[in-house]
Amino acid sequence: MKVGVPRETAAGESRVAIVPETVAKLAKAGLEVLVEKDAGRAALFADEAYAKAGARLVDGGEALLGEADIVLKVDPPTVEEAGHLKEGAAVFSFLQSWSSGALLAALNARRVTAFSMEQIPRISRAQSMDVLSSQATIAGYKAVLLAANRLPRVLPMLVTAAGTLAPAKVLVLGAGVAGLMAISTARRMGAVVEGFDVRLAAAEQVESLGAKFIGKELLGAGAEGAGGYAKELAADAEARNRELIKKHAAENSVVISTAAIPKKKAPLLIPEDTVKAMKPGSVIVDLAAETGGNCALTVPGEEVVVHGVTILGPRKLPATLPTHASQMYSRNIATLLLSLIKNGALVLDFKDEVVAAACVTHGGETRSAL
Ligand code: NAI
Repeated sequence: MKVGVPRETAAGESRVAIVPETVAKLAKAGLEVLVEKDAGRAALFADEAYAKAGARLVDGGEALLGEADIVLKVDPPTVEEAGHLKEGAAVFSFLQSWSSGALLAALNARRVTAFSMEQIPRISRAQSMDVLSSQATIAGYKAVLLAANRLPRVLPMLVTAAGTLAPAKVLVLGAGVAGLMAISTARRMGAVVEGFDVRLAAAEQVESLGAKFIGKELLGAGAEGAGGYAKELAADAEARNRELIKKHAAENSVVISTAAIPKKKAPLLIPEDTVKAMKPGSVIVDLAAETGGNCALTVPGEEVVVHGVTILGPRKLPATLPTHASQMYSRNIATLLLSLIKNGALVLDFKDEVVAAACVTHGGETRSAL
């Protein structure tokens, strides 16, 4: 079987689905690996490194897509790219809940088996395939660096001959994978950190990282839904939380927001009056920018200053650290693929929880809703 790794074409994408280190693992399983020339260039993986690891370099994406039996990508294929796939090929990538019906139709027209990497269930067995976690880890880390870079003050307490500087205060909203990484990064950089989430389990995790969990008294039984994810809140609970966040945001210099509910618009935690209440020079990094934003004033992909507060709505943050983001993604996607290869062929067992959840199209039909 030929496994193809094309160069990513989406704007702002610098990751690559497979890094040279993983090529050898795929080859060992009897797979022939084809890599488009320059596929790893933006992530600092040279063509020579792929060739040395045993990959065959192919000139041009169209040629690669037309030859591969299995295509490994980061971003979803475009409708045009789907049209270049081999009939009956398999493609593994982020497919994203906002993927268009046109893409699914194009995949089905070519009877493509498409796996959505973000739909892999968050079960212990699939932890090493979990791209949401690996990429959120990178995003949470980078969010703190972005905030520090925009802040007109230092993060740690500094005792110097020119006087003592107080540490910055950082509030992290949403303590999932990205939030917890942001908390530990900000703590390592010396900030005083507070965290907030609607899930009870998050309180203990926040505290274990040396941060203060705010609003435990408001949590009640918590808002944990299916699969350990958060549920949407009732309007009165949302309003109470927003008041709490407003009070704490006014005392902090940095707010990093990561709150998300799977397949729903991001919850609004920072309305304009909260931004107004913050100190001038404060920074908000809204990691939910691409799914509607946790802050009402976030402009996706942009940096704006409103009421003296800098608000960043970064897109594709993991792609700004493409070497490590690709390395982690590559291990995730290869683990999934190798779990499905038996005697050199792709074998799908739809009774398997991972296959059932993540396989979106197969044999000309859409199987699981995005
Ligand atoms: P996510 O990206 O879906 O959401 C980020 C965070 O926002 C979550 O902690 C969520 O509780 C929080 N949130 C949602 N609505 C909120 C609101 N109104 N106010 C404040 N916070 C709000 O979550 P992520 O990072 O993908 O992980 C969610 C959960 O998935 C984990 O805590 C865990 O239960 C589970 N998980 C399990 C793993 C495993 O066992 N393999 C690996 C990673 C996650």
